[in-house]
Amino acid sequence: MEWKDERILITGATSGLGEQLALKSAELGATLVLVARNLDELQRVKTSVQDRGGVAHVFRFDLHQYEQIPELYQQIKATLGDAPTVLINNAGYNAAGFIINTPAKVYEDNYRTNVFAPIAMMQSVLPDMLYQKKGYLVNIMSAAMHHAFPGISSYCSSKVALGSIHESLQIELASTSVKTLYVNPGSFRSRYFQNTRVDGRFKNYRYQSKAEHLRKDPRIVAEAIFKAMSDGQNHMDLSSYMDRIGHHLNYWAPRVLDWLLVRRNTEILKDRPYV
Ligand SMILES: NC(=O)c1ccc[n+]([C@@H]2O[C@H](COP(=O)([O-])OP(=O)(O)OC[C@H]3O[C@@H](n4cnc5c(N)ncnc54)[C@H](OP(=O)(O)O)[C@@H]3O)[C@@H](O)[C@H]2O)c1
Repeated sequence: MEWKDERILITGATSGLGEQLALKSAELGATLVLVARNLDELQRVKTSVQDRGGVAHVFRFDLHQYEQIPELYQQIKATLGDAPTVLINNAGYNAAGFIINTPAKVYEDNYRTNVFAPIAMMQSVLPDMLYQKKGYLVNIMSAAMHHAFPGISSYCSSKVALGSIHESLQIELASTSVKTLYVNPGSFRSRYFQNTRVDGRFKNYRYQSKAEHLRKDPRIVAEAIFKAMSDGQNHMDLSSYMDRIGHHLNYWAPRVLDWLLVRRNTEILKDRPYV
């Protein structure tokens, strides 16, 4: 891919992986469109992009309002003077709480950002990509989709939904020039835990306490995503060996995995309202 010719649309570009994807895109010389809610943070990332000689257009937008994505997309096209050639559906957040007392609204809100917004983004950009006979659709998944964890059923199920939609799309687009990339980034440092919406009754929510130093630098993930696109790949997996073992156990020995997850999450499960 000749990155200087690419117009890359990144959602959730104000921190973590999205920010690093923006900086990497700038180094490669692509033109950028950055979408998130926090305008100050968008301006900060835009300045960093410009410091690297890049061009970025920022759009303050709440993906929760996914119904308005078609209008947002028209504004993006008008600003770029053309359609994006790469879409990276990166924005997402985690919602923590036990199923018994998590209102359906929490799931609905989480799915709006994590599932319905990526679908609406792809539906907006795809007709132009098919017309241009060129494009890359990238979705950021999670190890949480290979087996669920206690206390974050909303997040895990949202990633399963997005992953399944991505797999269907990949096959639907097989005879076209539009490519897809399924990214399982593994664990990396970001504001993911600070931004997790935690149910107030979930006092022992301790995912944060996992050793931060064991989490990857998001720059490594961003580099790998661009390398995968340059190589024309449709799948990349940076998840840990433990995540991969969990994935296989879930298929071959689900009871063993359940037993391990109960042991591994004893602190969190102390909050359980079921006893
Ligand atoms: N960190 C990990 O270990 C990990 C592992 C696996 C997968 N992931 C996935 O990686 C992706 C990036 O997460 P991250 O870890 O980099 O988290 P992060 O630092 O919290 O970044 C999330 C980004 O999404 C944006 N965002 C959230 N809700 C939004 C909304 N309603 N509308 C517009 N933008 C919104 C945020 O910007 P504003 O607040 O400015 O809107 C922010 O830029 C997510 O899909 C996450 O599920 C993360």
